Amino acid sequence: MNAETLSQLAPSHLAYVPFVSVANMMRLVHHIGIERFLTDLAAHIEEDFKRWPEFDKTPRVASHVPGGVIELMPTADDRLYGFKYVNGHPKNTRTGHQTVTAFGVLSEVSTGYPVLLTEMTVLTALRTAATSALVGKYLAPKGAEVMAMIGNGAQCEFQAMAFRALCGINRLRLYDIDPSATLKAKRNLEVQGFEITTCSSAQDAVEGAQVITTCTADKQYATILTDNMVGRGQHINAIGGDCPGKTELHRDILLRADIFVEYPEQTRIEGEIQQLADDHPVTELWQVMRGEAEGRRNEAQLTLFDSVGFATEDFSALRYVRNLVQNTDFAENLDMLADPDDPRDLFGMLQRSAG
Ligand SMILES: NC(=O)c1ccc[n+]([C@@H]2O[C@H](COP(=O)([O-])OP(=O)(O)OC[C@H]3O[C@@H](n4cnc5c(N)ncnc54)[C@H](O)[C@@H]3O)[C@@H](O)[C@H]2O)c1
Repeated sequence: MNAETLSQLAPSHLAYVPFVSVANMMRLVHHIGIERFLTDLAAHIEEDFKRWPEFDKTPRVASHVPGGVIELMPTADDRLYGFKYVNGHPKNTRTGHQTVTAFGVLSEVSTGYPVLLTEMTVLTALRTAATSALVGKYLAPKGAEVMAMIGNGAQCEFQAMAFRALCGINRLRLYDIDPSATLKAKRNLEVQGFEITTCSSAQDAVEGAQVITTCTADKQYATILTDNMVGRGQHINAIGGDCPGKTELHRDILLRADIFVEYPEQTRIEGEIQQLADDHPVTELWQVMRGEAEGRRNEAQLTLFDSVGFATEDFSALRYVRNLVQNTDFAENLDMLADPDDPRDLFGMLQRSAG
């Protein structure tokens, strides 16, 4: 192949898509600082919740497979389209795999061309925590200082960091059925300056906590919290019930709580409220954030964020990361899009590449 043919075959700028690897995502988070990253990310998530009607929305597309689920989470506004690929396999940790892994794409609506491809395993943990703490700002009781954290796996420390950054909570009560998970979380969080109490049961963990985060993984109707364990005035941040047949709370708690959700059409399929009638009243968070619905009304109210994770939160995270990495070395260019000189001569480009 002569030099002229070679240069004709070299990718043009249109062929390249910025890619953020896991190593670069971690470098980026440290560069910004984890608490500031969580706070700024939460601001992007809130901004997008506040312009909810502008988004194209659908419940995520879930493929239920033995032992887990693989999901695609798309959404778009009139300028950008985003989607995330994510799995949930509760038994994965036994074989050294993560329960949740993810990657995502952001594209320009006008051309359909991707403008970002990024790891989203770390980013999902950050966005889930940022969303929980953002919701905590609206729903947690005033002056909350103590959070119970039931389930001390991969998401646990991210939740703790976000609740401190956004809600000022620095005291944690940890419980996991696997004591080694609790020890791991204690070790990681003590270094970050948290005051930690390890607990012998979920019942023990919720003692004196104003916020209860449930963050367990088990593909079944589990009962992490029963009605007698939850008092008036607490806020429950329920993360782990996010799939049909996979819940964490006893139904009686749901009947007593004021329930807040991301997107009812998805939460009724996947969240704790799959245990309730289809018309059970829930409040949509975007309306609370816009001041169109009430959040916490009084000190006695039991509030529940029935979190399942919605596509706009990933869209916000993609948008945030794209702004951060543009024209920096946190992204590398991938030769991902075929770009023939004549857009209709795709075959000619392939033929010439044979040399
Ligand atoms: N709502 C969201 O947006 C969102 C986002 C990410 C993950 N999740 C869900 O959050 C959950 C946790 O994810 P992860 O990545 O931390 O999983 P993980 O497997 O790393 O950790 C889960 C932990 O729960 C513990 N556990 C299981 N059953 C328990 C029980 N009965 N009592 C106490 N602890 C128990 C396990 O021992 C483990 O340490 C998963 O169910 C996942 O699907 C939700």
